[in-house]
Amino acid sequence: NHKGGSHIDPAQLVGKDLTDLTKNIKQLLGSKHPMLNTVNKYYFNAQGKHIRPLIVLLMSQATSIAPKHHNITLADTYQIIDISLTPQLSLNEGMAGVDRDTPARYLPTFSTDNTFILPTQRRLAEITEMIHTASLFHDDVIDISDSRRNQPSANVCFGNKMAILAGDFLLARASVALARLRNPEVIELLATVIANLVEGEFMQLKSTQTDKTIFERYIEKTYMKTASLIAKSCRASSVLGGCTEEVADIAYNYGKNLGLAFQLVDDMLDFMVSQTELGKPVGADLKLGLATAPVLYAWEQFPELGPLIERKFSKEKDVERTRELVYKSQGLERTKLLAASHCRKAAEAVLQLPESDARNALIQLTEKVLTRRK
Ligand code: FPP
Ligand code: FPP
Ligand code: MG
Ligand code: MG
Repeated sequence: NHKGGSHIDPAQLVGKDLTDLTKNIKQLLGSKHPMLNTVNKYYFNAQGKHIRPLIVLLMSQATSIAPKHHNITLADTYQIIDISLTPQLSLNEGMAGVDRDTPARYLPTFSTDNTFILPTQRRLAEITEMIHTASLFHDDVIDISDSRRNQPSANVCFGNKMAILAGDFLLARASVALARLRNPEVIELLATVIANLVEGEFMQLKSTQTDKTIFERYIEKTYMKTASLIAKSCRASSVLGGCTEEVADIAYNYGKNLGLAFQLVDDMLDFMVSQTELGKPVGADLKLGLATAPVLYAWEQFPELGPLIERKFSKEKDVERTRELVYKSQGLERTKLLAASHCRKAAEAVLQLPESDARNALIQLTEKVLTRRK
């Protein structure tokens, strides 16, 4: 029992399911073309934080003992679904190199506190990480970024064309795996995520005239580009588990608020830590012309920032001047406070689930978000 703030290692709770993740994703990415293989697996050979699959697996455990639709049995949720990509897919052209799944993959993983993870939920965690990685391939092209996960980014190694195509390939294979889950509601959720990622990126590229304030648009963009993926993946995990609508909403609200908090902290860290710590370029947002929460808050204290935001920090010294004013202002503190309020909402959501190690680990994650440095 981990009540009372004692420390849990969340990765330990989902153990083997998380360590198998990269291996399984590589299986899903097998193709006949050796160069395509190299490019599409490139980011999986570096250490991502796997925060999204970790959350999906923990949420699967935490909701496994929550109320289910009355007509659902455990057998319904896993025996009838064959999530393997073989044998049917190996008959498809281009699927050479996709290995057979081992029988163990058809069984739920049980924990000592009687929570469990279904095979379909494990596959969902893999799909979530694949969509995330696809968006990174495309993002580094759009941002003309040269490093990711402490190594040269794919666009630098292989060029823009191959980086874009590898991202597309990842989305395609994620879609095949998604279809194999045989759950239309889950397919719809994850397909919407992909649309949201693109919408978020567009909101960032080009602002639209609406009756919303700049800050409201910033939050909406943040939801689209960061929170939607984890929010809808959390919901999808509870749908796969046969949970009630109420439980699905709890899962969604946790993911949404945690995702928003994560991005707010990310935007704050962009002003605070070194490239070595972050594993990717820092101070990047201003150089890209982006005004994030710390800048928007600083603007309230220093109205002179208005024109600089308007012209996307394009004039000489704009970036330096903005950084100075952000440090002088309450911008970073206020960003952290807003992140903290979202963390509180996330924790309140999962507190409605029955007590379990996984639930406590999810709560602990809401605390860790605020103190992370990378
Ligand atoms: C890359 O993801 C960074 C982003 C997509 C922007 C900011 C997002 C986060 C800081 C994490 C979001 C967390 C949740 C709960 C949605 P990453 O930092 O996760 O990169 P990695 O896969 O290389 O670890
Ligand atoms: C990282 O943000 C990027 C995202 C959160 C999403 C990017 C989405 C697209 C490029 C649209 C295409 C989507 C798909 C699914 C192919 P960031 O640039 O702020 O973070 P970084 O510092 O990690 O680069
Ligand atoms: Mg980027
Ligand atoms: Mg970007």
